[in-house]
Amino acid sequence: MRVLDAEFTKGFIRMADDGWQQGWHERNGGNLSYRMKPEEVDAVREDFKEGQWQDIGTVVPDLAGEFFLVTGSGKFFRNVIIKPEDSLCIVEIDEKGEKYRIVWGLINGGKPTSELPSHLMNHEVKKRVTNGRYRVIYHAHTTNTIALTFVLPLEDKVFTRQLWEMATECPVVFPDGIGVVPWMVPGGKEIAVATSRLMEDYDVAIWAHHGMFAAGEDFDLTFGLMHTVEKSAEILVKTLSMTGTKRQTITTDNLRQLAKDFGVTLPEKFL
Ligand code: 13P
Ligand code: ZN
Repeated sequence: MRVLDAEFTKGFIRMADDGWQQGWHERNGGNLSYRMKPEEVDAVREDFKEGQWQDIGTVVPDLAGEFFLVTGSGKFFRNVIIKPEDSLCIVEIDEKGEKYRIVWGLINGGKPTSELPSHLMNHEVKKRVTNGRYRVIYHAHTTNTIALTFVLPLEDKVFTRQLWEMATECPVVFPDGIGVVPWMVPGGKEIAVATSRLMEDYDVAIWAHHGMFAAGEDFDLTFGLMHTVEKSAEILVKTLSMTGTKRQTITTDNLRQLAKDFGVTLPEKFL
């Protein structure tokens, strides 16, 4: 089977285009990666070529031998649906988790996203803590969430509470809360280490003055998570723009009632 005919590729392209349409991917902003299932690798292997091994820039031993569909560095999300073979690639990880090689895509040259270290380190954590369930890592430049990083203290507790409060669905959609990474230089190992530490506890990490990372089981759930957090941030931005103080909100007692009725556990440190 051709890579472009596979269901996972179609889902990946649709998600990238959904993100573009939300306005989260100016120019080459943002990146997306998907950890392929063994049967998906087997189904498209005939379409593979053999690239040169390159350094990942970090070490991910628990991802040895895995294959990922990822966006290319400098590629525009706008173009993913129009020219996927130019915008995307599949990379294979070597047996030590130190190197990758391109086995499909980027037909006009290039390399995988500059945030590959963050994507792979997040995948490594999520593969372990979810017993292999999570397969998608998504980075977007979500406008309202970024705006909030200029006015709220850069603390997990503040962002979690504020964003839980702005829409009743939020504590149910991201019950574990949200982590915040202070401003750091993007594209390297250091920010990858900081982000993947947060992924031990959360499915969402905000990069101050930059954007957001979301992790999930499939394309729908991961996109839906990013969308829910960003919508909540938009409501908060609108509220703060109207007035500095909320007249009423969802209270700690309300959150406890919600958790009970919806069968979710909210960490006590956020209540
Ligand atoms: P890439 O084009 O290398 O994926 O970088 C975009 C980005 O958002 C960096 O944080
Ligand atoms: Zn970015």
